[in-house]
Amino acid sequence: MKKLVIFLFVLLFGTHYMDAQTSGFQKLDDWVEIWKTGQQTYFGYPVNQKSALRDFYDWYLSTGMEVINLNNAGDPMTDEPWKMSSQAFERDVIEYFAPYYGFDLNDVWGIVTHSGTDGNSHGIYFGANYLYNKTGQEPIVYVSDEAHYSNMRLAHLQNLDMRLVKSDKMGRMIPEELEKVLDTSRPVLIVYAMGSTFKGAIDDMATLNALLDRHTEIPAVYRHVDAALFGGYLPFTEHREMVSHKAMHFESIAISGHKFFGIDSPSGLFLCTREVYDNQADFNVTYLNGNMRMINCSRDAVQPLKFWWLIRKVGAEGWSRQAEQIMECTAYLKQQLDNIGWPAWVNKYSNTVFFRRPPADIVQLYTLAQGYDENFGGELAHVVVMQQVTKEKIDVFVKALKDWADASAAPKP
Ligand SMILES: Cc1ncc(COP(=O)(O)O)c(C=O)c1O
Repeated sequence: MKKLVIFLFVLLFGTHYMDAQTSGFQKLDDWVEIWKTGQQTYFGYPVNQKSALRDFYDWYLSTGMEVINLNNAGDPMTDEPWKMSSQAFERDVIEYFAPYYGFDLNDVWGIVTHSGTDGNSHGIYFGANYLYNKTGQEPIVYVSDEAHYSNMRLAHLQNLDMRLVKSDKMGRMIPEELEKVLDTSRPVLIVYAMGSTFKGAIDDMATLNALLDRHTEIPAVYRHVDAALFGGYLPFTEHREMVSHKAMHFESIAISGHKFFGIDSPSGLFLCTREVYDNQADFNVTYLNGNMRMINCSRDAVQPLKFWWLIRKVGAEGWSRQAEQIMECTAYLKQQLDNIGWPAWVNKYSNTVFFRRPPADIVQLYTLAQGYDENFGGELAHVVVMQQVTKEKIDVFVKALKDWADASAAPKP
């Protein structure tokens, strides 16, 4: 039976599984089957399930890298990377992405982070330090009530005053609501949602920036962009200006590596201006390569290598194609849901389609994320159209919804 399952996998999903081995641990082998099956209908969370790291792992093992314990503790942006680290590659990664986020190479600092949350942590921490250094005052953090919870958690963790700003129905921060809660006597640390988690809303940075600019009495402003998912694909579309420091005038940005880019475990990017970096508290640590301004000591040395690898193996051309496919499939999913009369909504530039929540077995099969909003009739779910959510899979999903709707509407015998 097990052989038959493996044979079917090879037939369906190619040679990746040809040399699949069992581990000899029943529990682990059982879970591998669960993960492989689950991956086929993984619709609800923003994770690229088509990682292109197979040959990375071949290289890694064939060179014996698995027994070399590297650590990126220290600053990757110096000219003297630590020998037993991959900081030289980490710096390449930051410098590769810097122009995609509108930073000049002589005015950027950054690291490969542990996750989008880690990037937000740096954005909020760096923002608070920067503002304090400029004004001698503690800032107030402003974030919309639809933004990712990590931002609220991090403001709390860093003991910062925070004001939640109401968002509109579609999930965008309402400028008039910001105006209502704004305290212009204190520095402003605003976090912009560049793709709110459930509805995929983008805060209107141009309007919100203009509002803040009108208040010339504010001692200082710092804008951090939480672009965990959208910061992956938008730079590779015609809408790249939306994630550009030059166009949108933010000070820092955080992006996840395991979402769009296809790193196979949590990682991310954090980038900020040199001015922000220069306004951090000094932590000269004699046993590391200089000034430790980032939060963590040890940092993963393998994730930067994976990023570096993907830049070469997938690169701008591949990511542009993937971004196009994602946008096309998002429009397709919305259209198909409209066609069967299933209430569904999607924000502009977003790959997240939210809709009336289907029954529990469909939610479970497709790993749908669930939400609730009275404005849209209560119980909701969403699909995040990532690389693995193809038109063929969308057809099967929409058919399941239609079959269920037809069966529910049919008169009972
Ligand atoms: C908008 C947004 N920000 C931050 C995060 C957290 O990112 P990570 O899971 O990489 O920590 C998420 C995760 O889904 C998100 O959607």
